[in-house]
Amino acid sequence: MSAPMIAPSAGATHTGLLGLGVYRPSRVIPNADLVEAIDSSDEWIRQRTGIRERRWATPEETVQMMAVSAARDAIADAGLDPRQVDCVIVATVSHLLQTPAVATLVAHELGTEQAAAFDISAACAGFCHGVALASDLVRGGSARHVLVIGVERLSDITDVTDRGTAFIFADGAGAVVVGPSDTPGIGPVVWGSQGEQANLIRQREDWRDALAASAAGGTATMPHLVMEGNAVFRWASFAMAKVALEALDRAGVSADQLDIFVPHQANMRIVDTLARSMKLPEHVRIARDIAEAGNTSAASIPLALARMKADGEAKSGDLALFIAFGAGLTYAAQVVIVP
Ligand code: UT7
Repeated sequence: MSAPMIAPSAGATHTGLLGLGVYRPSRVIPNADLVEAIDSSDEWIRQRTGIRERRWATPEETVQMMAVSAARDAIADAGLDPRQVDCVIVATVSHLLQTPAVATLVAHELGTEQAAAFDISAACAGFCHGVALASDLVRGGSARHVLVIGVERLSDITDVTDRGTAFIFADGAGAVVVGPSDTPGIGPVVWGSQGEQANLIRQREDWRDALAASAAGGTATMPHLVMEGNAVFRWASFAMAKVALEALDRAGVSADQLDIFVPHQANMRIVDTLARSMKLPEHVRIARDIAEAGNTSAASIPLALARMKADGEAKSGDLALFIAFGAGLTYAAQVVIVP
């Protein structure tokens, strides 16, 4: 008797982004509301980061609520029904319940038919990791329509008295549907991690230590995010240009052929330095959502793309370059066709 053969799995030859949706929280926080607690000024924050205001979620605007809202719009934009989504990936670092994954709750609330659902943790690079994973799942035959959601409520884990982070982090959600396409719509991912620099952006302490410290001090404190901003700034501005150029190379396209550049919205000066280091041609339009959105980590790229579409700076069919980087350190970049 011959040994049993496992049937191979095969999926679509090409994949693409089929739809986009976003959610911006209702509460607008101008710089002026934050400066007193950190001895800063509106002018300093604008000059050093390009941020004028950001959105912070209200109690009702939970991670799940924002994720579902963005996802519904992405599914509608793709012309699909939630029952056609067979996998949900949520990229987030601010879902404060250790288990279950928020993706399972999102899949259920959307009305998928028991879609596979899981969360991924790659910080600000989480959305690009999700797009890469989703594309490979569809090409490998493990799923047909994958919802990728980047969602954050960083205001929950930001210390409003921390001079290095209080003015940067913000909240929001963005989602795309990844599915089969007649032509290639998602290029090869260039990604990686540098765990030796894990201390540069991190949760200050783990939950157990936070609990012990709170018990000893008699007050409950959240384990907030801390960042060595200047070291991250230098790494992101220079090392990431090489990664972005490699993603262009892997996709077989040149910077000249790009319509838009959508880097993670960490700091406007990083956005500008990246574009300069990559020698992006003048005609390539650059995402600058950070001015009104702040740094929304995993949500920043879909939010920035949606603003460009709404402002007429990007349209369906445009050739775009994504690059994201953050805690870990992690990074990921890919070329895509705008949905
Ligand atoms: O999304 C994940 C990845 N994250 C990032 O990519 C963030 C990267 N980092 C940054 O965006 C920047 O490092 C920050 C915006 C966080 C800080 O800007 P910086 O230009 O790196 O500031 P710095 O820490 O080097 O400080 C420069 C000066 C110092 O004063 P002196 O020594 O030059 O007199 C600081 O004391 O700015 C002062 N400073 C402030 N002043 C007013 C630092 N923080 C503040 C503040 N307000 N909040």
